[in-house]
Amino acid sequence: MSIALLRRALLAVGLGAACAGASAADAPRFTAAGELRRPAEFREWVFLTSGLGMTYGPNKPAQGASAPFSNVFVTPAAYRAFLRTGHWPDGTLFLLEIRGAEENVSINSGGRTQGAVVAIEAAVKDTRRYPDGGWAYFSFDGPQGPKDSAAPFPRDASCYSCHSQHGAVEWTFTQFYPTLFEVARRLGTVRPDYDPARKAQ
Ligand code: HEC
Repeated sequence: MSIALLRRALLAVGLGAACAGASAADAPRFTAAGELRRPAEFREWVFLTSGLGMTYGPNKPAQGASAPFSNVFVTPAAYRAFLRTGHWPDGTLFLLEIRGAEENVSINSGGRTQGAVVAIEAAVKDTRRYPDGGWAYFSFDGPQGPKDSAAPFPRDASCYSCHSQHGAVEWTFTQFYPTLFEVARRLGTVRPDYDPARKAQ
């Protein structure tokens, strides 16, 4: 191998290591028992959207209570990969933070602002760890506030059926992340069976 080729090869290895390092920093971390560790720093990740009244199941507000906000964050390395490819890479970690909606706070009258955390949920893509579909779902809710780690929901939990049937890109609700839905449309990665008119049962 010539010196120039060798240098190029070494550079490629170095760059590869640097990239792997960058994605490893925000990759999901697990306990020895396979529980997902709750990431403390998700507010430094990429913010995708806030929904109002998007909640379902146990997080649904009691009748008469204000509909809560849902804030969605994703790890920066996965976000950058999605911009390039329109696909979520292995190691993608989403955080869904649900906060109560408050009315008439401070100077505001008539609007809604975000209050205390109601729930923190997560989704991980890892096709080797979760060969049956590639995605797993977690909740950090515990009786004494958020837990430090959480086991994946079992495969028959409603998370899997709703996400796998109604998500527009793979099993994610990218149809609600406006800038990313545009990317998926441009790169042709919206699921062919995605039907914007179909409601969840
Ligand atoms: C009836 C459908 C439905 C069910 C059941 C459901 N979700 Fe979701 N999920 C959504 C929708 C809609 C969004 C879009 C974001 C929002 O709520 O604002 C979402 C977004 C998410 C996200 C952000 C990443 C993504 O996939 O777009 C996470 C994480 C998440 N849900 C976790 C869960 C977990 C954990 C469960 C099971 C306990 C669950 N979800 C059950 C409909 C559902």
